[in-house]
Amino acid sequence: MTKSYIWPLANRVSHVLLILFFAAAYILGDFDELLSYHVAFGLALGVVFLFRGVWGFIGPQHSKFKDFNFNLLDLKEYLLSPFSKTKEYAGHNPASSWAMVAMLVVAFLAILTGVLTYGIEENHGVLSFLHSSYFKEMEIFKDIHEFFSNLFLAIVGVHIAGVLINRFIKKSDAIDSMVSGYKKLADKVDVKTNIAQKIFGIIWIVASLFSLYYLIFTKDNIFIANANVKQNYALLHKDFNNECGSCHITYPPFLLPKESWTLMMGDLENHFGDDASIDAVTNLSILAFLRQNSAQNSTHQAALKILKSLKDTNSTLAITKTLFWKHKHKEIEDRVFASKEIKSRANCKACHKDIERGLIENDLIQIPKIKV
Ligand code: HEC
Ligand code: HEC
Repeated sequence: MTKSYIWPLANRVSHVLLILFFAAAYILGDFDELLSYHVAFGLALGVVFLFRGVWGFIGPQHSKFKDFNFNLLDLKEYLLSPFSKTKEYAGHNPASSWAMVAMLVVAFLAILTGVLTYGIEENHGVLSFLHSSYFKEMEIFKDIHEFFSNLFLAIVGVHIAGVLINRFIKKSDAIDSMVSGYKKLADKVDVKTNIAQKIFGIIWIVASLFSLYYLIFTKDNIFIANANVKQNYALLHKDFNNECGSCHITYPPFLLPKESWTLMMGDLENHFGDDASIDAVTNLSILAFLRQNSAQNSTHQAALKILKSLKDTNSTLAITKTLFWKHKHKEIEDRVFASKEIKSRANCKACHKDIERGLIENDLIQIPKIKV
């Protein structure tokens, strides 16, 4: 047995990046307020894979797809003999060959549907032009995105199980070779990378890291940018802004349905325990503005979800009483809302700093530090 150099540095470093980027993207996917980071890691993962795809054609021996082993008979033999030594594979064994291609394809589909979801539902990123009322019901892309992400995780799981069997039962050094680059083989077959491949390898790693940095630190880049337009309620409707913003923040009209606004404006004398009444002309004018910009007329994701979560649009007056709102804030403790920094659930602005400009995007959420 001699040591042969099989995996160039670019393969090994990108392998580590794939593990880190996928783990980060997957975990961050669970936190709404960290959505832009989830997207950044997901897209950076796409960059690593994109280069890996090209490497499959221009890379050195064993890294090329044509050197992978897709022979089904070999795969069968390999999988059916987990406890015995099988044929020696200098490059990818049949199982890891299939796993690699499956990962490339599934990652591509997961990222594509992720970008679609981000554009259609969240109105963010390169596909935000697809966001319109026509796409309101297009939650299907999110489901498909989650399906592919979980499928990817499942393939990773099988791949890791295979690697562990390989390492501890078959006593192969395949996993060690992903760190050192070297495998013990019967014949010496060192892989050589030419100068063009070396340069490509450097560009691969630098581009992957740079894309992550760029996506995270330039918030207005086209891949992350928020296409929801900031509203200036003072210009849009002065009376709404002044009257309705005098006791509390100005709530964006799209957070309640038409019916709620009609009901509320019809009884301002008894407005959450306050008398908020105004003259009839101003009242009608504000009501028209509120109805025109209500949840039914908005493409905003929150508007859609609030509408969906309301069983009865005719009696709900408070946003904080909707099921959607309660669901989204269920993990925030009462004492946080009651704290002197926030004071009330209705003080949205304490955590959604741009809400008075009609923006309640995930990446703008910031819960203030509470002193106990
Ligand atoms: C005289 C003061 C006052 C004025 C003026 C006023 N409000 Fe209110 N409003 C309140 C109070 C008090 C609450 C309850 C806040 C809380 O629960 O902390 C409230 C709550 C609300 C809520 C529910 C917030 C939630 O919990 O989801 C909405 C929506 C609302 N007001 C809209 C309006 C609109 C629209 C106008 C303008 C026509 C208006 N308010 C004018 C005092 C006022
Ligand atoms: C104490 C801080 C806090 C206050 C106050 C608060 N929110 Fe939130 N809000 C959050 C957090 C945190 C999330 C993200 C929850 C999650 O992880 O899903 C959130 C999520 C949301 C979402 C969902 C965003 C999306 O795109 O999925 C909406 C809509 C929302 N809040 C509206 C409001 C409104 C309207 C008010 C005021 C009536 C309000 N919030 C008050 C902290 C707060």
